[in-house]
Amino acid sequence: MRILVAGGAGYIGSHTCVALLEAGHTVIVADNLCNSKAETLDKVKQITDKDVTFYKVDVTDEAAVDSIFATHQIDGVIHFAGLKAVGESVEKPLAYYYNNLVSTIVLSKACLKYGVRKFVFSSSATVYGENEVPFVETMDLLPTTNPYGETKAISERMLTDAAKSKSEFSVSLLRYFNPVGAHESGLIGEAPTGIPNNLMPYVTQVAKGKLGKLRVFGNDYPTIDGTGVRDYIHVMDLAEGHVVALDKLTSGVHIYNLGTGQGTSVLQLVQAFGEANGIEVPYEIVDRRPGDIAECYADASKAKRELGWTAERDLLDMCRDAWRFEKGYV
Ligand code: NAD
Ligand code: UFG
Repeated sequence: MRILVAGGAGYIGSHTCVALLEAGHTVIVADNLCNSKAETLDKVKQITDKDVTFYKVDVTDEAAVDSIFATHQIDGVIHFAGLKAVGESVEKPLAYYYNNLVSTIVLSKACLKYGVRKFVFSSSATVYGENEVPFVETMDLLPTTNPYGETKAISERMLTDAAKSKSEFSVSLLRYFNPVGAHESGLIGEAPTGIPNNLMPYVTQVAKGKLGKLRVFGNDYPTIDGTGVRDYIHVMDLAEGHVVALDKLTSGVHIYNLGTGQGTSVLQLVQAFGEANGIEVPYEIVDRRPGDIAECYADASKAKRELGWTAERDLLDMCRDAWRFEKGYV
């Protein structure tokens, strides 16, 4: 299939380009590079020895998107092109609503206009709010604590309504848990600008000596050791999940959790990192981070049942691959 990957130069998008190319698909990337670099796509080509067509466009620009659809006979779209910093979304809510909602509208409108049948959307476990873990796709969504989460919940509803309005248009809403790690080559990975918000890139930068000490946000949660529990998933498992979701997407709207189903605490992750890489990561316990929940992990059984997909890489793989990328990254 010929797949338009919006946001394909980013962290999850670039790994998904690798998985798509390796599965034999043709890849067209549209990315405005607001949080990524074009060189990442050169690395994708290096890994796969295959070509990628790249458009440096903002996918909220209807005319620019239209011209891509007019030029290529696209069979499916994967939409990664979102802003994703939760804290920043509280400071700049309108920028988040604009980018994340208009991009979804523009891309799905183009699909309807050009008869593109498959649309895969990057949603997030954050849409479950404070439901009871494990999160199951059938749960009612609860309000999220930030505009970023709201953009995901609203995009899900918009795409669901679009699919209802046109039976040929099928949508897969993929709710990611916590993507970490990097491609096994060490050539592509997560390279946040500035001080990382997320745990794994913070840990790798402490390990490298770029940052002093990990701050563990709270040890008084009702969890195994008091620290926050998340469902970390290797980014290559996540990428492969997209390829399967796209292949199997035939009609209607389908929601899948992409997680491992396994909860890991902050301290367990720090320990696994030490075990995988022989590096002790110094840390201190500080106050809870506002907006954090105690536990977030998936019931991952639906993706297994319906897509035949399960995450294969374990926490040690995630820690090893994240570190391999960080070591080589300048
Ligand atoms: P990322 O920032 O690395 O990738 C997003 C890419 O989209 C970047 O290359 C950016 O330049 C591009 N982009 C953003 N807005 C654009 C626009 N208007 N036009 C064109 N390109 C645009 O982020 P990621 O971690 O790869 O996340 C991809 C998607 O998955 C996002 O929608 C994010 O919200 C979602 N998601 C991420 C996580 C996570 O923890 N990383 C968890 C759940 C969901
Ligand atoms: N944490 C620390 N210290 C840090 C960073 C994080 O202790 O420096 C803790 C957090 O308190 C939390 C855990 O590590 O308990 C994971 O935090 P992350 O920031 O890595 O991830 P979140 O679960 O907060 O959020 C991520 C994405 C969101 C997405 C959500 C979906 O950032 O965009 O996963 O599950 F919505």
